[in-house]
Amino acid sequence: MTTLRIAMNGVTGRMGYRQHLVRSILPIRDQGGVTLADGSRVQVEPVLVGRNADKLKELAAKHDVEHWTTDVDAAIKDADIVFDAAMTNLRPATLSKAMQQGKHVFTEKPTAETLAEAIELARLQATTGVTVGVVHDKLYLPGLVKLRRLVDEGFFGRILSLRGEFGYWVFEGDSQPAQRPSWNYRTEDGGGITTDMFCHWNYVLEGILGQVKTVTARTATHIPTRWDEQGREYTATADDAAYGIFDVTTPGGDDVVAQINSSWAVRVFRDELVEFQVDGTHGSAVAGLRECRAQHRAHTPKPVWNPDLPVTEPFRDQWLDVPANADLDNGFKLQWEEFLRDVVAGRPHRYDLLSAARGVQLAELGLQSSAEGRRIDIPEITL
Ligand SMILES: NC(=O)c1ccc[n+]([C@@H]2O[C@H](COP(=O)([O-])OP(=O)(O)OC[C@H]3O[C@@H](n4cnc5c(N)ncnc54)[C@H](O)[C@@H]3O)[C@@H](O)[C@H]2O)c1
Repeated sequence: MTTLRIAMNGVTGRMGYRQHLVRSILPIRDQGGVTLADGSRVQVEPVLVGRNADKLKELAAKHDVEHWTTDVDAAIKDADIVFDAAMTNLRPATLSKAMQQGKHVFTEKPTAETLAEAIELARLQATTGVTVGVVHDKLYLPGLVKLRRLVDEGFFGRILSLRGEFGYWVFEGDSQPAQRPSWNYRTEDGGGITTDMFCHWNYVLEGILGQVKTVTARTATHIPTRWDEQGREYTATADDAAYGIFDVTTPGGDDVVAQINSSWAVRVFRDELVEFQVDGTHGSAVAGLRECRAQHRAHTPKPVWNPDLPVTEPFRDQWLDVPANADLDNGFKLQWEEFLRDVVAGRPHRYDLLSAARGVQLAELGLQSSAEGRRIDIPEITL
């Protein structure tokens, strides 16, 4: 059986630890690897990489991982695959180093803070020919898999619009510790909700509807002062909310208006932390991370506006659950398994550095749109 050695950089961080090590690579290792098309298996061997030897040693012991190191360069040299979930501003250097040595790469998003750097990385991928996967986790979530199935089955008729609502209250850190790292709220450290979320929204819109053509955004820093991991007060220099409108064109040439609110300063009155509603001429659906509910034209009630009467219909009860019809595992793990199969087969992974560059582009143009107060066309990226 082939064993792929994976250098996992940034594994002490929130995403690197929870989603990639604990929910993806360790379960893959413990299930005996990934089965390939010909029935053979490929196993994974993680190497924990970071700056803090004590933390790495503790994690390695806790999860029965044999190898760990604080020497990133040596880890890259010895690896088959280099994974990166460290802070965004450090990513281009790590990924470039790995690809230049012919290593396959799997990485968190965004791939870079600037479009120029993201395109440079995509170019390097094209010249080195290594297999690169960039986290597009939302597309592997049960709710969005079901939503995409409705699109594929023509359930919606002509799709008119998409409305997304993402967010929750992130505590300021004074009375209760914040549940996100403080760098997320500092522009100088690569933070900001637009940079963080618009790269997700780009591949979600592409994966569900089609190509994103324009962006109009209004960003805000609603909470100007926060408290960091050490309890020190700091000024939030980055945006903590972004209200975006996107023109999207479907492969069939239909124009769809998409609107997505992203906020770390909003309280949840929804069923899930992110929800997308798609409306079409023949039907509508609301998808979250796990669930998806749909309403066909034939089941659509006919409310009449009358503010003098109480609500006349049980609107939420009039939707039908869309079943999974499959065992949909953790989204990060599913993408890792697909990526590992691509590496062994020597073929490209469908969500690569070019797709990631379009995500960085949407974030960059979103910030520009907000700063200039205007709608911005999105040019096609060529390598
Ligand atoms: N796919 C998703 O849904 C998702 C969600 C959140 C974050 N992310 C991305 O994951 C990445 C990590 O985010 P996080 O929330 O886990 O952050 P985090 O602060 O919890 O982790 C950051 C990691 O980087 C390491 N690090 C920090 N400074 C470093 C330095 N100077 N040199 C080397 N390593 C350093 C830290 O030790 C830690 O391991 C970011 O790029 C973020 O955009 C993705």
